[in-house]
Amino acid sequence: MTERTRGPALVVGGTGGLGAAICAALVAEGRPVVFTYRSDPDKAQRQVEALGGPDRVACIRADTTRPETLDAAVARANEWCGPPQTAVFATGVHIEQPFISRTAFSAWQQVIDVELLGLIRLVDAVLPSLREAEDGNIVAITSVATASYPPGDALSAVPKAGMETLMRALAREEGRYGVRANCVAPGLMDAGLGAEFIQTMYSPEIWDQQRRRIALGRFGTAEDVAGIVAFLAGPAARYVTGQTIYADGGFRL
Ligand SMILES: NC(=O)c1ccc[n+]([C@@H]2O[C@H](COP(=O)([O-])OP(=O)(O)OC[C@H]3O[C@@H](n4cnc5c(N)ncnc54)[C@H](OP(=O)(O)O)[C@@H]3O)[C@@H](O)[C@H]2O)c1
Repeated sequence: MTERTRGPALVVGGTGGLGAAICAALVAEGRPVVFTYRSDPDKAQRQVEALGGPDRVACIRADTTRPETLDAAVARANEWCGPPQTAVFATGVHIEQPFISRTAFSAWQQVIDVELLGLIRLVDAVLPSLREAEDGNIVAITSVATASYPPGDALSAVPKAGMETLMRALAREEGRYGVRANCVAPGLMDAGLGAEFIQTMYSPEIWDQQRRRIALGRFGTAEDVAGIVAFLAGPAARYVTGQTIYADGGFRL
């Protein structure tokens, strides 16, 4: 990467299983990273230290249901290292896996507010910076469940489908300003929410069946997702926009 393309990155949900690996991949490329956390400032501070300390990484609390906190995260990046060139949305709600017939309306409201409306709020907060940057870009973490639907996963899949459409529409409208918008759709990952599912839900036999459905025969890692995010956020992807890349080991084939 050249100096011009190694701009600041803002990772929303940077303390998650996937978000933390995404922060590490961007730091490894020499990019200043500001990440957001929601619940645990001590954990976030330990993550700053683990990633090289405050010269390389900063963190700020943000809740995607509260737009002023996303404005503050963008302002923090601006003060510290300049307008973000990359924004990553890696926020997700911990869901059970209820069938739609058993899903409470309040659960729909929560996932749509945190994830779909959260991404809309992030776009609102960060778009002026992305337009200002050279090769400004945004990457949203969605899910393979928008393409290959596992029963019980609607609370995750439905907001993600809206997020993918939002990113394609943004790519179409903002290309004229040099802004790119893409998604990475993970399959079954042994990290973050996926690891929690594997440890706490269903029997080992069910997970073995799921593993056999994956062409590559294994669950993914957080790094499998993070590498694709770093690619989409960097100059090698400068002609890639409006795409969803599946990090699913061939699960949906
Ligand atoms: N891991 C997988 O197997 C997998 C597979 C397919 C799709 N995905 C999707 O990928 C995304 C990230 O998943 P993950 O596994 O990294 O989840 P995770 O480990 O649970 O991390 C979620 C992140 O989102 C943050 N967050 C939650 N609610 C928030 C809110 N209202 N405002 C701001 N931040 C909030 C969390 O902060 P706190 O920790 O402070 O609450 C955390 O940083 C999710 O949308 C998930 O559905 C994951």
